[in-house]
Amino acid sequence: MSINKEVKKITTNTLQKMKENGEKISMITAYDFSFAKIFDAAGIDVILVGDSASNVMAGHETTLPITLDQMIYHASSVIRGVNRSLVVVDMPFGSYQSNSKEALISAFRIMKETGAHAVKLEGGEEVLESVKRIVAAGVPVMGHLGLTPQSIYKFGTYTVRAKEIEEAEKLRRDAKLLEEAGCFGIVLEKIPAALAKEVSESLSIPTIGIGAGKYCDGQVLVMHDMLGLTSEFKPRFLRQYLKLEELVTGAVKQYITDVKKKDFPNEHEQY
Ligand code: KIV
Repeated sequence: MSINKEVKKITTNTLQKMKENGEKISMITAYDFSFAKIFDAAGIDVILVGDSASNVMAGHETTLPITLDQMIYHASSVIRGVNRSLVVVDMPFGSYQSNSKEALISAFRIMKETGAHAVKLEGGEEVLESVKRIVAAGVPVMGHLGLTPQSIYKFGTYTVRAKEIEEAEKLRRDAKLLEEAGCFGIVLEKIPAALAKEVSESLSIPTIGIGAGKYCDGQVLVMHDMLGLTSEFKPRFLRQYLKLEELVTGAVKQYITDVKKKDFPNEHEQY
């Protein structure tokens, strides 16, 4: 498939300038070539190959089971559809937590085997050594604080994080540490809007919110949620832009009817 290369590509510097100019950053997840191509052509700034692939693509209850090989498969499919957007790939659970050397090797695999532009990992102080090592190797890193789904069994629930003073204080500290360690941006997931505002204003790097209110420097949504493919998932922060599950169900039902009625294919749809 040939892709037009004559466009101004989004880089981590572009995102930094957008923050400085007060221009909001748009980010969406994608896991395959076809949707990545549509999102890129529509003008999205950042495509995240999220480990939410574990949920929405593979049907797992959590993000924990997805492997590095599977993330690499999704990311290389996405990258083939992208011409302009910055592509960030989630480092999956178990690929970076044991030590910074393992984290670096995992990041190298993602960059070399997919052609993606950056990696994202969850956590603050606990993963700082790994962030520093990956950044030092020339790989852009995005942080992820607040609700970090890879730690779901530690939290026990998917409810709003950092509502208590102590957890909010740790989040503020972690955000600063990640910035100092060289992260080019931080996802803030499901935290109070006032805290996200304070953190966004205190950092020079952009924050990207999901369920973190309007003061973040950008927003990210999982494509299946915003397109209405996961119709049973309706958290307060989600805006559904399409009811794709209904549309697809209608289309497939019509197709079944046409086949059963011997209406498809007709004489113009055959050789
Ligand atoms: O995996 C993912 O989709 C994410 C977003 C929710 C930010 O990390």
